[in-house]
Amino acid sequence: MADGHEMGDRAKFREMLEGTKEDWDIIVEHSKSFNKGLAKRVLDHLRLLDGDFGGFPVDRLEHSLQTATRAHRDGRDEEYVVCALLHDIGDTLGSYNHPDVAAAILKPFVSEANHWMVANHGAFQGYYFFHHIGLDRNLREHFKDSPHYEHCAQFCHLYDQAAFDPDYESEPLEFFVPMVERVFSKPVNSMYLKAMQE
Ligand SMILES: [Fe+2]
Ligand SMILES: [Fe+2]
Repeated sequence: MADGHEMGDRAKFREMLEGTKEDWDIIVEHSKSFNKGLAKRVLDHLRLLDGDFGGFPVDRLEHSLQTATRAHRDGRDEEYVVCALLHDIGDTLGSYNHPDVAAAILKPFVSEANHWMVANHGAFQGYYFFHHIGLDRNLREHFKDSPHYEHCAQFCHLYDQAAFDPDYESEPLEFFVPMVERVFSKPVNSMYLKAMQE
């Protein structure tokens, strides 16, 4: 089997009410190996943005690479760079709330400030274009009392809104793979954490 377990290695309950410790030992073991593949699954999903232009000058994968490359070259740490790389991964499934998708995926692995930055970058990015599409570019002011306001405004100003240049030499996705693997190997915020530790 792909996850290294035997076919017969399954819990016996028909409903969870009947579940035993033996059942759950089996499931927890499967979860541990499944979780090790999370970085790969996330990267596979990010690749769905390849060729997806949506009218922009660069496709959404290039925008992601360019945002991450700019952050990396500016000296940001690995966790921040991974947030930059994945900030728009929700574009495929969250057409009306894409920042929420990336924020949910990253939440177990990143600081509160970086999680907040990813979760709210949509409103802050709006400062650069909402006035062109009949929306209020100052929507971000709604968050002016947050301790993370500047952190998020800086992300959008320095990297996100600046990452649409077709002539920019971004690093390829392979460059970021080890960073994604390292960040996704160390969950710190999860209600399942105690049960899932090695
Ligand atoms: Fe975005
Ligand atoms: Fe973006």
